[in-house]
Amino acid sequence: MLFHQLFDAESATYTYLLADLSSKEAVIVDPVLEQAERDLKLLEDYGLRLLYILDTHVHADHVTAADTLRLKTSAKTAVSSKAGLPCVDIPLREGDVLTFGAFSLRVIETPGHTNCSLSLVCDKRVFTGDTLLIRGCGRTDFQNGSSEDLYRSVREKLFSLPDETQVYPGHDYKGHTSSSIGIEKRLNPRLNEGKSLADFVQIMSNLGLAAPKKLHEAVPRNQACGKKEVLS
Ligand code: FE2
Repeated sequence: MLFHQLFDAESATYTYLLADLSSKEAVIVDPVLEQAERDLKLLEDYGLRLLYILDTHVHADHVTAADTLRLKTSAKTAVSSKAGLPCVDIPLREGDVLTFGAFSLRVIETPGHTNCSLSLVCDKRVFTGDTLLIRGCGRTDFQNGSSEDLYRSVREKLFSLPDETQVYPGHDYKGHTSSSIGIEKRLNPRLNEGKSLADFVQIMSNLGLAAPKKLHEAVPRNQACGKKEVLS
């Protein structure tokens, strides 16, 4: 399988390109608008046919390239059904499977960072969006976030994957690229196996984070799949 972990420095976002080099079928996870040309060039370089454009949630810190990539390819966009977005081609639900060539992505609903957050399992990898970050997790203080939901999503769902499963997050701010379920169970300072739900809620309610810079631009545009013009 072809696997690229791509980075947008401005928003510290990871985008993932996965493809089956035999069938040339590809999927992309969490593409960033400003990096659409980079991603299209990569598809062209490898002669890939993009089937699906997935967003792990409605992002607040960058605008998705979903609509731009959809217009330039024949790919379909896919986001959680919980987002309730009419612009989405495929509303995703727990257990849905998207196949590309000999490979597939399986949907696990992991609400908490937002109510529409999901994770995607591909063989020995899991793409966790902002639900589980390396030694951290996404904030839960807006977009219908819930610390209780996030705790359950990680502890009951993601941590039930095999320990050797590689964790690929939606962001990293310290230069890390991946982790594993086993390592995060031991070393995640918020969600390791010694932390109770009460501990976690306490940690999350004391973060004191500023709002993301692009919040008021990104959320409405992402609710329209990243279209250039958003009708109000
Ligand atoms: Fe996010």
